[in-house]
This record gives sequence, C-alpha cells and structure tokens, in this order.
Amino acid sequence: MKTLHIPRDLVQEHFSARAATYDGSSFWCTDQAILERIRGLLAPTGTERLLDVAVGTGLVSRHLKPHVGHITGLDINEDMVDQARDAVDELVISPGETMPFDDGSFDLIVCRQGIQFMGLDAVLAEMVRVLKPGGRMVSIDLAAYGDDDRVEYFEILRLRNPARRNFFARGDVAAAFLAAGCSQVATHDHVSVEDVDVWSDNGAIAESRREGIREVYRNASPAFASLHSVQLADGRIVDHMLFELTVGTK
Ligand SMILES: C[S@@+](CC[C@H](N)C(=O)[O-])C[C@H]1O[C@@H](n2cnc3c(N)ncnc32)[C@H](O)[C@@H]1O
Repeated sequence: MKTLHIPRDLVQEHFSARAATYDGSSFWCTDQAILERIRGLLAPTGTERLLDVAVGTGLVSRHLKPHVGHITGLDINEDMVDQARDAVDELVISPGETMPFDDGSFDLIVCRQGIQFMGLDAVLAEMVRVLKPGGRMVSIDLAAYGDDDRVEYFEILRLRNPARRNFFARGDVAAAFLAAGCSQVATHDHVSVEDVDVWSDNGAIAESRREGIREVYRNASPAFASLHSVQLADGRIVDHMLFELTVGTK
C-alpha cells in the first residue's frame, strides 16, 4: 500500500467539481453486477440498520434501500450528498475518521471507493466501533493486481484523482480489516471493464492529466498490459480494472 498526505480542502474541491457528473464518470458507478455482489455479501434480510460510509450521490444506498430497514449515509461533501437524499433515511455530514455514532449502532456497513480518501486506520477503527458485535462490513476498492502492475497503476490512479490518499494492491484492505479487529475476513474479485477516456473524464482534472494517463497505458510494461488485459485500438484504451470486495465480521 502507498499513502500520500492530501489536504482535506483538496478532497472537498475535487468532489464538488465532480458532483454533477459523478454517476456517469465510470462504468462501475451504476453497474448492476457490482451492486448485486455487494448486496450478496451484506446479505440483508430486510430489517437491518445500514451505514453507507462515503455515501456520495447514493448509488450504493439506492440499490440496497429495498433490502434493509434503515440507511444512514455519511460523507464530508455536501454537493455529492445533495443527490443522495432519496436514497437514505438519514444523512450525516462528517469525516469517516470521526463518526458521530454510538458504539454498536449498525448491523451492516458498506463503503465503496471511500477509504482511499481517508486515514485508513482511523476509518476502519470507527467502522468496527459503530458496528454491532456479529455485524458485517464490506469495502469495495480498486486495487493493483500485485507487484508487477502497482507502480504504473498507482501513477494512473494518482493522475486520475488528485484527492486519493491510499493506493491499494491485492490483499492490502483485507490486512487492514484484520488489523482493525475484524474476523472472518475474505476478499472477492470483481473485474470492471472501463473505457479509459470515459473514466478519466471525471470533470475535475485537467486535460494534461488525462494525457498523462494515456501515456502510461501507451508505454505500459508487458506485465501491466497483460494483468490489465489492456486493449489499445482505434484511439480507445480499455482497462480491466480489479475491484476487491473485502468483507469482515465484528
Ligand atoms: C468515489 S466517491 C464514492 C461514492 C459512493 N460510495 C459510490 O460508490 O458511488 C468518494 C466519496 O468519499 C467522500 N469522502 C472523501 N473523503 C471523506 C472523508 N474523510 N469522510 C467521509 N467521506 C469522504 C467524498 O466526498 C465522495 O463522496
């Protein structure tokens, strides 16, 4: 794992700039397959209290709403959560690292593409604290496949999102779950096929950064190109990006 020091103002600025177009900014955002996998791992029965950490525009919560009893969405960015109002029962504006909830408040916790912007130990400690004993938490994160692609992939992810603080390779989030005190930790792979030009057009980065991303793909090492099954054709770049779905029990 690699960690950078990112000022909170930069995170706010980045997501305020992206809020209006966020839902269309990656294939994975609205892909029903990944949302269904998240539901399968949480396995709600209809009555649970769910916390969605880094709720954003509410895409995950909206999918889970018919399957749980109550949803609290937490995020630091008001522009993002403005679009989440219909998806949750309660919105809380707060950093994930210091949550204003009592111990054991939730049966289930989900966080998709959120912990990369936070102090990792702090947010996982908070997630474990506010989870009921026996409750489940799931984090869904882009990860490098391993040592052979991590340097190039971390550079791509850094260029794409200047607010990103943590860069994960396969297994890093599971190790962090265990360190935070979770048991029965398991990871599941989900590969998302992303058109790099669509994915990099997030409305919040300069064209020079997008060109920098294209350059990394054009000059990719054979190992990176193979692990990511990179396709370069007709000016398009397609990447098979690895998501890890990490599940743990308190
Ligand atoms: C990539 S979006 C993910 C949104 C949503 N989970 C989804 O899957 O579509 C990341 C979200 O994390 C939020 N965020 C960033 N840093 C945060 C922090 N320290 N505490 C709470 N939320 C944070 C951002 O405001 C943004 O809404």
